[in-house]
Order: sequence, then C-alpha cells, then structure tokens
Amino acid sequence: MTKSVATLQPSRSGERGRRVEDQAKRHLIQPWESLEHLGKESRTVIDRTEGVYVYDAEGRRMIDGPAGMWCVQIGHGRREMAEAIARQAMQLPYQSPWYTTTAPAAELAEIIAHYAPGDLNHVFFTTGGSTAVDSALRFVAFYNNFLGRPLKKQIISRAGAYHGSTWLSASCSGKERDRNHFDFATDIVTLIGAPNPYRRPSGMSVEAFCDAKVKELEDKILEIGPDRVAAFIAEPIQASGGVIVPPAGYLRRCLEVCRRYDVLYISDEVVTGFGRLGAMFASEAVLGIVPDIIIFAKGVSSGYVPLGGFVISESVLAQVSGPKAKGAVFSNGYTYSGHPVACAAALANIAIIEREGLLDHVREIAPYFQERLAELADLPLVGEVRGMGLMVCIECVANQDGRDLLSLDTEVGNRIDAHCQRLGLIVRPIYHMCVM
Ligand SMILES: Cc1ncc(COP(=O)(O)O)c(C=O)c1O
Repeated sequence: MTKSVATLQPSRSGERGRRVEDQAKRHLIQPWESLEHLGKESRTVIDRTEGVYVYDAEGRRMIDGPAGMWCVQIGHGRREMAEAIARQAMQLPYQSPWYTTTAPAAELAEIIAHYAPGDLNHVFFTTGGSTAVDSALRFVAFYNNFLGRPLKKQIISRAGAYHGSTWLSASCSGKERDRNHFDFATDIVTLIGAPNPYRRPSGMSVEAFCDAKVKELEDKILEIGPDRVAAFIAEPIQASGGVIVPPAGYLRRCLEVCRRYDVLYISDEVVTGFGRLGAMFASEAVLGIVPDIIIFAKGVSSGYVPLGGFVISESVLAQVSGPKAKGAVFSNGYTYSGHPVACAAALANIAIIEREGLLDHVREIAPYFQERLAELADLPLVGEVRGMGLMVCIECVANQDGRDLLSLDTEVGNRIDAHCQRLGLIVRPIYHMCVM
C-alpha cells in the first residue's frame, strides 16, 4: 500500500490516542526503550500542553511535574515563543555555521557570556546536552594535545551522574543500571563515588562524609597521576541520579583540588541552568564555584527547540588561541551549531525569564515547594525527600532504618507515576524514585 502523511493522519480526534499508541508500538524506538517489551509497552500519549499542564489523548489534564525533562522553564504554549520561532524561520531558517554567522547565534552567545560567572565568555553551540558534553570533552583533549601534554587525557566523573547519550558523554555517566550491555570509553573515563549523604556509611557525620568524598577525588587524581588527569565533570546537583544535593562545601573543595593539580573543572548545568535553582547559572550564584567550562541545554530554549552548548573561560581559551595557536583549528561542530531558529527561541525564552522575574519567582516559591513535599517523608514507603530550588526527589525504600531498596524497585516509581497521573500529576519515575 502506498503511504502518505495524509493517509497516516487520524480522521477523528477520538481515535487519535489509540492510533498514536499503535503507531508508536509498531515503529518507534523511544529513549530507554525496554527491548524485552518492545511493541507492548504503552507510554502516555500527550496531545497538547498549556502552561504547567499537559493533556493526554483522552483530554485528561495533568500537572507537568518534571517540566518535560526538566526543561520547560517558562511553561508550555507561549505564543511569544511560537512567534519568535516563526519569524526566524521566515527570515532566515538556516545558514552554515562553518562560513557564515547569524544575529541570533551572536546575540545569544553575548547574553550567555553576560550571565556566565567569572571570565566564562566564549560559547560553543551544539544540538543538546549530550553533544555539548561531548564537544567540551573534545575541546579538553584538543587543549592538552596543543599544550604538548598528550598523556593528560583522563576524565574523572562520578557514580550516579548522567551526562548524556553520545559515546563519550555516556561513558561519563555513572548510573549503574544504564551500563548493562554497552561498551564505554573506560580507557579515559574513571568514576568515583557519588556525594550522596543519604547513602553515607552508617554512623558517619555528613561533614566526615564530605571530607571523604573530596579526598576520594584527590586520591584518584594522585593514583592516576596529575599529569594524566585532564578534567573533572560534575552536575552541581546530580539530577536523574536522584537529585543528589552534595554536602555543603563539597563542590568548592572539589574545585580547589582540581586547581591544585591543573585539572579542568566542567560544571554540567544542563538541568540546573536557566532558572531551576533561581539563577541563570547555579555554579557561582547558588553553589559558590566558578568552573572552567559550563555545559548548558534544556532550559536555554525551554525545550521548544533543541539547543545546547558550552561556555568556556577566557583564561583557558587564551592558552590555545591567538598568534601562538598558528594552524590550530578546533575541528568540531555540527550542521546545526548556532541554529538561527533555536537561538531565536532561546533569546525569546531568556527575554521571558527576565521580564517575568522568573528567577525571583523560583527563589520565592522553592521553599514552599520543598517544604510541602518534605511532608511525604512521614509515609512508611518514603526513605528521603530531598531537593533544592525547583528540583525534588522522593526516594522510596522498603524500610526506613535500613534504607533498603524495595525488591519491587523498578516498578514502584512507575506505579506511583501511574497513580499520580490518575490524580492529575505527572512525576518522573526512576526505578524506586520519583523526581519533579
Ligand atoms: C546533567 C545532564 N547532562 C546532559 C544531559 C544530556 O542532554 P540531552 O538529553 O539534551 O542530550 C542531560 C539530560 O538529561 C542531563 O541531565
């Protein structure tokens, strides 16, 4: 049978949900697809969105707890965004970033440099968070090769981290259950422990735990050899690892360790950037660190179109640029680096964040959000409720004292999410945890 888009469109709106579900089951491979259940599992079909709400195919309205994938900072369905995207698509939908440049990309780079801390003033655009991490790590390798240190290539990351799904960004990700049946760049990436106070050894104070985790980083650098360690990459708060808020001072002290051994510090702000913690970038404003490189994506365009990138310090860049860098070309880029439509969307998104005072708003409502959710800690099923700003995780356990994971752990998050959806709320289940 000849197929066309027209014949694939459902004719009546009532059929739409079932049709979409069926098409997805037959043809779509989704992220984190369970291949055991390929073609059998249904995911909720979302038909439209508005403000903080999403509507499923039956018209059921739910609060979008995870804000898409922690990315829809300004809410769904903003006309201003649609207009900015349409305007840019009509005026200049695409140009090659290899040999031309465009106003949206240049203006956005200037604004990001303005909001980034310290001397982080140069921006490289990518297509999302994974490619931003990948590009930053390629830059780090390029940098050390250029400086005549070809052995300084090792990257230290942490258990529980998520940095993306390219080969290298996935290799820096430390979520244990995502590591089955895959290969990783274990020759250049080493994982150390997560700074998760909830899972610290029993009887150990949080302060002692923090000391131990900082020491673990330093010990690892010394074990590998400072002349071989290129970079440390860390989310300020491990997001999909379960909203792991590190002990006070941990990030600052890790940065000090990196400085001591000439190791670049990469702060992955894909989730925490653009408002989720009440600042455009949380590294300095919320957590008191000025890293060498910050990765961003998601909230930069509120998810309306894909965009990511990294912003890097003048002082690092200066070592590999200018007259001494004769012939050095950072041969890394994407057809869609600095895509005009994506950058125009990001500019409109940032304008909304500024005009509506959304950073102040987050700071104002976050304590209430955290306080009310903390009440769930009284439930016997709940081990810990933790978070910061507008990030929260509810971790379920079989027994609060032992902090044992539930035997049902892969199911419990899904069951809570399914129940919440019936009550009008989407939460993001991650095994035995739910994040919003
Ligand atoms: C901290 C962090 N880094 C990187 C990524 C990868 O971003 P993307 O999915 O846009 O490639 C994510 C995605 O969730 C993330 O949470």
